[in-house]
Amino acid sequence: MNWCAKQGLRIAIDGPSGSGKGTVARLLAEKLDLPVLDTGLLYRLVGFLALRKGVALDDEAAVARLVAEVIPTVQWDQRGISHQGRWLDQELRGEHVGTAASKVAAMPEVRRQLLALQQRLAAHGCIMDGRDIGTVVLPDAEAKFFLTATQRERARRRWSQLQGLGREVDLDEVHAEIKMRDQRDASRKYAPLKPAADAIVIDSTTLRIDQVVDRMLAILHRRGLIEACAKNRHQ
Ligand code: DC
Repeated sequence: MNWCAKQGLRIAIDGPSGSGKGTVARLLAEKLDLPVLDTGLLYRLVGFLALRKGVALDDEAAVARLVAEVIPTVQWDQRGISHQGRWLDQELRGEHVGTAASKVAAMPEVRRQLLALQQRLAAHGCIMDGRDIGTVVLPDAEAKFFLTATQRERARRRWSQLQGLGREVDLDEVHAEIKMRDQRDASRKYAPLKPAADAIVIDSTTLRIDQVVDRMLAILHRRGLIEACAKNRHQ
């Protein structure tokens, strides 16, 4: 079945680490021919650069200065994120960068600066995934989903992803890391991880990715936000 999205459709997908939101967002974007923006990459880029430049992760003013420098040099689209002309991917995926990202993401000034950038990029329709898309970045998005799964299952998924990247890691260590990250992301004062009041919550613990995507497509169709069309615009 081919689907066409309503002009300018914005879909927010939030959820904790390892909930599968990135994969689901990419698959949905392919099916609907919409750009997909992974906002975690922005926070990861800031964390990565702070680590590389030796900026202390508890010095909010210094991290905020770094963000102000970074924003004009950032290119960010469905391919991912580039900084000073270099596309970054593997460098941003490591657990230590994720932890640094979670620390800088708790800083209100960092969030404030990145908010405007995210809103500008989403203006003409997109699928955006993160932690606060439905609550803060796009509170008026036409559709909002909150994807979750048990902590153990999310740890197992992250562990298997890291194994796939050739990193030897212990499942219990990954679980402990996820637990700490969940606590930090959900308990921070500004834009904490939580479902928007009007978000549809999907627990993916026992679902395959394609089942999650099908469920979302059915919901979007029921709401009149997408329609079956004869052929995909790419064909
Ligand atoms: O989704 P991720 O693991 O790539 O995100 C990395 C960190 O960035 C995560 O710990 C929380 C933070 N983040 C956020 O606070 N708000 C977002 N919209 C996206 C990510």
